Amino acid sequence: MRISVIGCGYVGLVTGACFAEIGHHVACTDDDESKIAILRSGKLPIYEPHLDVLVEKNVREGRLLFVNNPGEAVRSSEAVFICVGTPPLENGDADLSAIDNVARMIATEGGGAKLVVEKSTVPAQTGQELKRALTVYSRKSGSNFTVASNPEFLREGTAVTDFLHPDRIVIGVDDDTAAKKLREIYAPILERKFKCPAHQDKCPAAAAPVFVSTTVNSAELIKHASNSFLALKISFANALADMCDQLGADVQEVTAAVGMDPRIGPQFLQAGLGFGGFCLPKDVQAFIRLAERVGIDFTLLKAAEQVNRQRIELLLAKARKALWVLKGKKIALLGLAFKPNTDDIRFSPAIEAAKRFIAEGASLRAFDPQAMEKTRKALPQISLAKNPYEAVKDVDAVVIATEWDEFRKLDWKRVYNEMARPLVIDARNSLNPAEMKSLGFEYYSFGR
Ligand code: UDX
Repeated sequence: MRISVIGCGYVGLVTGACFAEIGHHVACTDDDESKIAILRSGKLPIYEPHLDVLVEKNVREGRLLFVNNPGEAVRSSEAVFICVGTPPLENGDADLSAIDNVARMIATEGGGAKLVVEKSTVPAQTGQELKRALTVYSRKSGSNFTVASNPEFLREGTAVTDFLHPDRIVIGVDDDTAAKKLREIYAPILERKFKCPAHQDKCPAAAAPVFVSTTVNSAELIKHASNSFLALKISFANALADMCDQLGADVQEVTAAVGMDPRIGPQFLQAGLGFGGFCLPKDVQAFIRLAERVGIDFTLLKAAEQVNRQRIELLLAKARKALWVLKGKKIALLGLAFKPNTDDIRFSPAIEAAKRFIAEGASLRAFDPQAMEKTRKALPQISLAKNPYEAVKDVDAVVIATEWDEFRKLDWKRVYNEMARPLVIDARNSLNPAEMKSLGFEYYSFGR
């Protein structure tokens, strides 16, 4: 099928590349011409495992195209996937202006009957507004559109695998034709008829995805509800960690056993510095705002947000307790990305922590395996080391803010020898406390 993808961010690029990989002809476009220029030069504007191979292969084989002119992309396609950003406004609402702009563009460019699919995370009832906007904007062009919702659940760092091996594909449709077309688009994934680039010939033996068809309003709500529930789980684990700290229990032992109950599940119970990134924080905020707008006080979610905000304060408090005065202390910050295996620093708790340490007068040196470039551009005030060993040289403390595997595998004996004071605050509970103590470290983590 001929598909166009509007927006070349994490979701758009992965969607475009994976649709091409399963056999469709995809034209991707973005407002940001520099992004298209990077893609056309054979590079990627983001770091995401396996995506480079996928993009290169599908461009070479002629199924994937990056175009500057969105009209060109839209006119030649049967289905348009909207993957533009919906960043938070000052008041927490999702900013839907990019979606509105795309609606105007699609309506004007027209080109016959089209399926317009919202993949960006949007508040419930956006589909209705999108449909209305398309009708109004296409008054002169006379095109007609069907609007569907197809929320994306991929995670950064495992985006390609998540897209090709989802547990469910959710579509929100108001008629059978749209459902049929979306099922056809996803058929290779539903029937697992493709060669997985991430696993070569050996795809994980997971069950085929469930195809869930709902109304547009429900599909939109499913996405917000999923992300909000994940946020609740993380905040629950974090509050539990604080209890463990006071009661002399180990949060990882507790969550491991709690998570064995299939009604609860083991995932998203990792306590530490809290959730960040471009999705969870903004989606939780937008869901709270949406609830307020319809007269519901979603106290539960507000509490999850509050617990999350307190994590940084708690880290600072731990650091002050161990180091006494922070002003003038040398601190190595390991990790800048909002989680491992990504270069994304948007709403990263690690960055937030870095800013706080700097504001308190500490002298900070940071290192991250992938996020250095983005940090250098966005926050030049953060001093960066070439490697983790340079970062820890002569410091009074090491703070682990992102649980990269690379940090687990460091030669911690060497780190011990490089540091002025062997103090480690592991804000992601990523190391073994007993091992660290046996190496001679003064070691603190969260809830253990
Ligand atoms: C999330 C959702 O998982 C995904 O389904 C949705 O489409 C987009 O938002 P992502 O933003 O890539 O994906 O990150 P995710 O892996 O969910 O992690 C979010 C944050 O929670 C990270 O900062 C991570 O460090 C934190 N986290 C996650 C915890 O603190 N503890 C956990 O147990 C899990």
